[in-house]
Amino acid sequence: MNASPANARTHAPSARPLAGREVFPIGLGCMGMSEFYGASDDAESLATLQAAVDLGVQHFDTADTYGFGHNEHLLGRFLATLPTTDRARLTVATKFGIVREAGRYERRIDNTPAYIRAACEASLRRLGVDCIDLYYCHRRDPAVPIEEVAGAMGALVAAGKVRAIGFSEIGADSLRRAHAVQAVAALQSEFSLWERGLEAELLPLTRQLGVAMVAYSPLGRGMLTGALPASEALEEGDFRRSLPRFNGEAARTNGRQIEALRALAADWRVPATQLALAWTLHRAPNVLPIPGARRLAHLAQNAGAADIALDAAQMHALDALFPPGSAAGARYPDAGWAGIEPTAEPASGPTQRHAR
Ligand SMILES: NC(=O)c1ccc[n+]([C@@H]2O[C@H](COP(=O)([O-])OP(=O)(O)OC[C@H]3O[C@@H](n4cnc5c(N)ncnc54)[C@H](OP(=O)(O)O)[C@@H]3O)[C@@H](O)[C@H]2O)c1
Repeated sequence: MNASPANARTHAPSARPLAGREVFPIGLGCMGMSEFYGASDDAESLATLQAAVDLGVQHFDTADTYGFGHNEHLLGRFLATLPTTDRARLTVATKFGIVREAGRYERRIDNTPAYIRAACEASLRRLGVDCIDLYYCHRRDPAVPIEEVAGAMGALVAAGKVRAIGFSEIGADSLRRAHAVQAVAALQSEFSLWERGLEAELLPLTRQLGVAMVAYSPLGRGMLTGALPASEALEEGDFRRSLPRFNGEAARTNGRQIEALRALAADWRVPATQLALAWTLHRAPNVLPIPGARRLAHLAQNAGAADIALDAAQMHALDALFPPGSAAGARYPDAGWAGIEPTAEPASGPTQRHAR
């Protein structure tokens, strides 16, 4: 139960399969470089992207909606600077399906085949690539049967425009049905110590189907770092100021849990951030977290989590501190639930969507 820095680094990081390649287990979420968490600086973001490649990070995550195309453009600018050999080692993932008016969070979801084809062409252009390594349906539009969506995505694979497909925030039935039409390489959903709603059903199912479980917001949008300021001290316009989990009584309740995580981290002499990421990696062998980091120091610390070995007692202590359903407050504001399919709730957890 004592993970000293010395014994915490005895296990070399092992690559994990993603979309037909073996990749460094910790990826980089690029969203914050364009939107949601306050101001960003392109020069700093480009330096962080380069540092990620230098550290061996191979999995980069973006979406067409992040910054209304800015995030894909930025990644495209970066990819254009890489030698071909470096580029060939990377898996770049992007997503379609969320349609927003510039500057607004409210969205509608579009999964029609014509929209998917047009969105793919636009993403290829912004990224400056001939083929998207991993293309996700970001949110589900229930008006279009999932078989039709998987079929349209499969046609992009057949056309050589997409190497592998994935879905974000879908339930078990949709995953099974999509996979029957076109092999699904990855399910990307929120998964962290704070958000364990998919452990009961989806995590075992992804393992059974050979689908990677890409864990988004693995640091609870920064909360699990133990270093995030109170919501009211965040920048004006920071999305977290609108999230129930970061505000009011829920924030105070969650803060006590984070304090307990910080105490464990201090006791074990491992940063809370690395504990949170290492927990996702230890939870199942098909989990690949994509922590978001605009800042180089954050990126480097996160990549280091691949070297942290947690023993069974430590996993038990973390599981006990963050039982499924324990985070107070909803993980999205009302407008954010569009296109998110329900997952099996933990038996002991809350049953209302707004309590998740
Ligand atoms: N599929 C979906 O619907 C969906 C939804 C949300 C996110 N995502 C993807 O998942 C990625 C990651 O999720 P996320 O960015 O929401 O949340 P996250 O990774 O849980 O947290 C990101 C936040 O933590 C901070 N941070 C990162 N490393 C840190 C460290 N070592 N020390 C202190 N602070 C640290 C970041 O700060 P700095 O940025 O200042 O470094 C940022 O504010 C996104 O970038 C996006 O690609 C997907």
